[in-house]
Amino acid sequence: MEKLIIEGGYPLKGRIVLAGAKNSGFKLLIASLLAASPSEIIGYSRIGDIEITQKIIEALGGGIERVDHQLKVFPQTLSSYSVPAELGKISRACSLFIPPLLFRFGRAIVPLPGGDRIGLRPIDRHLQGLEALGAKIEKKKGFYEISAPQGLRGKKFKFVKNTHTGTDTLLMAAAFAKGKTILENAAEEPETDDLINYLNKMGAKIRRVAQRKIEITGVKKFIGASYEVMPDRNEAVTFGLAALATQGDIFVERARPEYLQAFLEKVKECGGGYQVMPKGIRFWRNNELQATEVKAVPYPGFMTDWQALWTVLMTQAKGKSIVQETIFENRFGYAADLIKMGAKIELFNPRVKNPKQFYNFNWEDNRPEYFHAARISGPTPLKGGLLTIADIRAGATLILAALLAHGRTELTGVEHIDRGYEEFDFRLRKLGAKIKRIG
Ligand code: EPU
Repeated sequence: MEKLIIEGGYPLKGRIVLAGAKNSGFKLLIASLLAASPSEIIGYSRIGDIEITQKIIEALGGGIERVDHQLKVFPQTLSSYSVPAELGKISRACSLFIPPLLFRFGRAIVPLPGGDRIGLRPIDRHLQGLEALGAKIEKKKGFYEISAPQGLRGKKFKFVKNTHTGTDTLLMAAAFAKGKTILENAAEEPETDDLINYLNKMGAKIRRVAQRKIEITGVKKFIGASYEVMPDRNEAVTFGLAALATQGDIFVERARPEYLQAFLEKVKECGGGYQVMPKGIRFWRNNELQATEVKAVPYPGFMTDWQALWTVLMTQAKGKSIVQETIFENRFGYAADLIKMGAKIELFNPRVKNPKQFYNFNWEDNRPEYFHAARISGPTPLKGGLLTIADIRAGATLILAALLAHGRTELTGVEHIDRGYEEFDFRLRKLGAKIKRIG
């Protein structure tokens, strides 16, 4: 079992180049299966979540060729419409396989999604959309069987609540559904735009016509395309916060300010330094940090993937900060570890008028033991310890905390970090972190 050993207290300095976005790369690979000819995905990240997608494609009979950060997908040899249960269960994105498999075979079998540490993560909104377009969905023991005996037909469909991957799934399905589809209350995430741009390059006809409204005209054929994955904005925030938290100075190359507005506003508000430059953003800290209030909401608001990292920074800010989560029902699991390290964090449930509407998760999935906000009192020094990483963002969070803490931290559960960040420890070391991997 691999471990990360971190000696905290060293400022991180230097330049880092962002990898391709995790939450876009694997979708582009799946979308490639719509085409009748090979595609080329440039600048993808070599991370666990992308490897799982590659394995699923290979298990379905598709071909993958990797050269450095370039991937060629050969969809012509696809021979199965059944996503293997053992791989599907560890992927967070199984529903995305439904549209290309329906397009190629008229059927798809995908395992039921398993919940994870941040929540149940059901796909009811994806399935409602597919049904609206004419798909027939049968829930069997451990899997869904989806067919479209009459083919899919374009339609007006409104998502009951925001769903990032649900929008991506519907986009792909509508791309070949007969006629016109209008998706309302659709996700605005930049990774969804990356998928739209890629699908259009493959021959799809998709455009955003208004805020949260997408129009898709179905086409009969897709051709393989060459496409470069957008840079990872979660990595941008992670490295930006590493500079602020360790009192360092990092130039994050390829960071795009237009995708990070909500984050940059908070950096400014708390007294952190940043400068937008032609090729990226420089982050540093020279002042005392001030407490802030953030609320994780759908894009373009402050991302849920950033809230745990922000909490670490707020342990170093003067005053009482509030971090609220509205997207996932159980995303404060990391707080107990930060408290163990010396942080003063109190979890609570803020008073909310209409929780059923207010929260993005299905309110029925809530549990009395879940908390939706944290009150952080700072500044408090953090000390190293023995900790276990339980999911991707919580992993980056504990590493960040360990980097600013006094003393040595030992982290297990390293595989979660490798699922979402390419060579994270190696890249941090280049910035001056005292971090090593053993085992
Ligand atoms: N939800 C439902 N039913 C649905 C769909 C969603 O109840 O049919 C709930 C979810 O359980 C969640 C909320 O609605 O509580 C929002 O879900 P959404 O579908 O928007 O999120 P996602 O597509 O599952 C993606 C990213 C997340 C990122 C969110 C928000 C991937 C693989 N995951 O999740 O990234 O936080 O969008 O942008 O793209 C991460 O990278 O660590 C991560 C969790």
